[in-house]
Parts: sequence; structure tokens; C-alpha cells
Amino acid sequence: MQRAISSFALAPAVKVKLINAGFHSAADVCDLQPLHLSKEAGISQEEAEEVLQATRCESNQGRAGVSRLTALELLEREQALGSIVTFCSALDSALGGGLPVGKTSEICGVPGVGKTQLCIQLAVDVQIPVCFGGLGGQVVYIDTEGSFLVQRAVDVARAAVEHCSLLAEDAEQQEALKEFTVETILSNLFLFRCHDYVELLAEACLLPNFLAQHPEVRLVVIDSIACPFRRDFEDLSHRTRLLNGLAQQLIQMATQHSVAVVLTNQMTTKIANCQSKLVPALGESWGHAATQRIILHWEGQRRLASLFKSPTHREVTVPYQITGQGFRDVVLSYPWKTRADFAISSGSACKRPRMEGGGRT
Ligand SMILES: Nc1ncnc2c1ncn2[C@@H]1O[C@H](COP(=O)(O)OP(=O)(O)OP(=O)(O)O)[C@@H](O)[C@H]1O
Ligand SMILES: [Mg+2]
Repeated sequence: MQRAISSFALAPAVKVKLINAGFHSAADVCDLQPLHLSKEAGISQEEAEEVLQATRCESNQGRAGVSRLTALELLEREQALGSIVTFCSALDSALGGGLPVGKTSEICGVPGVGKTQLCIQLAVDVQIPVCFGGLGGQVVYIDTEGSFLVQRAVDVARAAVEHCSLLAEDAEQQEALKEFTVETILSNLFLFRCHDYVELLAEACLLPNFLAQHPEVRLVVIDSIACPFRRDFEDLSHRTRLLNGLAQQLIQMATQHSVAVVLTNQMTTKIANCQSKLVPALGESWGHAATQRIILHWEGQRRLASLFKSPTHREVTVPYQITGQGFRDVVLSYPWKTRADFAISSGSACKRPRMEGGGRT
């Protein structure tokens, strides 16, 4: 909180104006509103938001203090956090059990490939009761595109409930099913609609308080991060600075509140050596933001998921499909073909598909 304004990675002109206006440390500014700071320091409102984002991130770190623990303690802590299954066992195997809690994951892909479908699936799956091997958690779903359709969430939730009903064996599981209904799944899903990047940045600042009040939340989805940041930006270095700050906030949120943070991103065309290729949007520096990156893509009529960047698992590509019930494994229609025939490379043994369902591949 006592860190000097001059030491922050802010534009020099902004730092000079802040210091001239009497703001010398992070503590002097971090409780102000953007409009107030903008007027007091004679900077634009956008610059004021950037200053507040940088200094609040610092002050939250200060409150958290330096954590000291052994690698064994860290391992035990991470194993206890668990992961969220995708209901596509091929992808779960590739991810080492599902999307990790306490980490940030980015899902990239072209329009219609299934990013939102996967997010809705995760929002339901994170709520699977503990006695069924789930996390029994709640979810914060930040929709920046208006693409969250509640009827689709109902369909996916109903399929998950039916799946668990078929698996229920003992009394504990039968009891848990009384609470695991479509209604409770929807009531444990907190929806936030952000219309632009200012609302999204504001929400990212408010979210730690919400998570502190709702300690059962195990998943935060932002669908998508790209939409608000690909509009209305002429100054790309300003965008990069805001995105870097947001990435830091999300990483901190994932670790401090034990939540999986899942972001979706769009694809853009990059031209290099007279050739064009599709790459995740928001620039190269954003590529470092999430712990792992999954790219959903098409190969002809088939949908494929590639684990593109992971600090712990090798790169692998697996098929998936979207059915009426949600995100699923591909049901092999050729008995002589194994999933290995579909995989470009595979880091872990393939399990039997957890669920089957018809629908398009
Ligand atoms: N009930 C359903 N049954 C089968 N497939 C479905 C169903 N609902 C959606 N889909 C499939 O999901 C696709 C849409 O996926 P989704 O909305 O997740 O795309 P997206 O990657 O989020 O795209 P965007 O970038 O535009 O947001 C549809 O094109 C359709 O193929
Ligand atoms: Mg979408």
C-alpha cells in the first residue's frame, strides 16, 4: 500500500500528473473512484481506471502478505482443490482430470465451434455433488456477449442430473440427488452481464468481495474476454496494459479464492511470410495470461480440442461433439477405430466415454 506511484508501470506523463496533484503512494489513490481521480489529477477517465487497476492489484497483494510454504504443502493444496470435468473424457484425460481449480484456463476458437457450450457444461459440472466425485461448488458466469441462453443451461443441467441419477448407488448419493436438481443448479449460477470493457474491469475489481461472501464458488467464467477488448480500442498499448492488469487480477483471484477461472477468446487472422493463419485474438502478450490454453477447432465436419499450452501436460488433440445434452465425447461409429486414430498425439490413456449421446459432431 505504501508503494510509490513512481514505481508503477504507468505512462510517465500520468505519473507526473499524479505526483503533482499530491498522490505519492498506492494508498493515496486506491480508494478513489475513477471520475474523482480523473478530476483531481487532471488525467482522462481511462487513465484513471488504469491507475486504479494497477494500484488496487498491489494493495490486494499487500493484504494477502507473502506466503511461504514447502513444495509438498503446495502439492497437497493443489491436489485438494481438484478439477472440473468437461463430460468429454478424452479432454479430461488430456487435462489430467479436467479444468484445474486455482488456475486460469483460456478456451479459444472460431465462432460456433463450442466455446460457450463448454462454459455452460463446466458451470453445471462444477456443481456435481462431492459424493459423485464432483466439487459441489457454485459458479460466477460473466457474460460479455449476451450469449448465455438459460434454456441451454436447463438442457445441460437436466442431462447432468439424469446422468448422476443413473450412477447413484448408496444412500449418500441418493440423498445428494435431492439437492442436485435443475432448479438448484440454476440458483447456484450467478450471472453477471458486462456490456463493455469498463464494466468488465469494474466487475473484476468487485469480484473478490463477492467471492469472499460466497466461499462455495469454485468456478468463474468470462465468456468472452475478447469481445469487449476488440471493440473501441485505438490505442493498443493502452489495451495491452489493461489486459496485463486484468490477467494479474484473475490469477490472484484463482489462487486466493480457490476458483477455476475460465476465459473464452476469439480467433484472429495473422499474416506472416505471405501466409495467413488463425491465432487467438488479443495479441501475443495476452498469450501468457492464462495457465493453460485450449483451442477448439474444426477439421472438416469434426470438432477437435487441442491442449495448446500447459505447464504440466503435453500438447494433445482430441475429438469432441456437442449434443442436445451438452459437451461430450465422440461416439465412435466405426468399431475397428480407436480414439487414438483421431488423436494427433495423446499424453494419457483414453478412458471409456463417460456419457454417450447423439447429435452432430
Ligand atoms: N441443443 C444443441 N444440440 C446440438 N448442438 C448444439 C445445441 N446447441 C448448440 N449446439 C451447437 O453449438 C454451436 C454453438 O456453439 P457456441 O455457442 O458454444 O459457439 P462459440 O464457440 O461460443 O461461438 P461464438 O464465438 O460465436 O460465441 C452451434 O453451432 C451448434 O452446432
Ligand atoms: Mg460463444
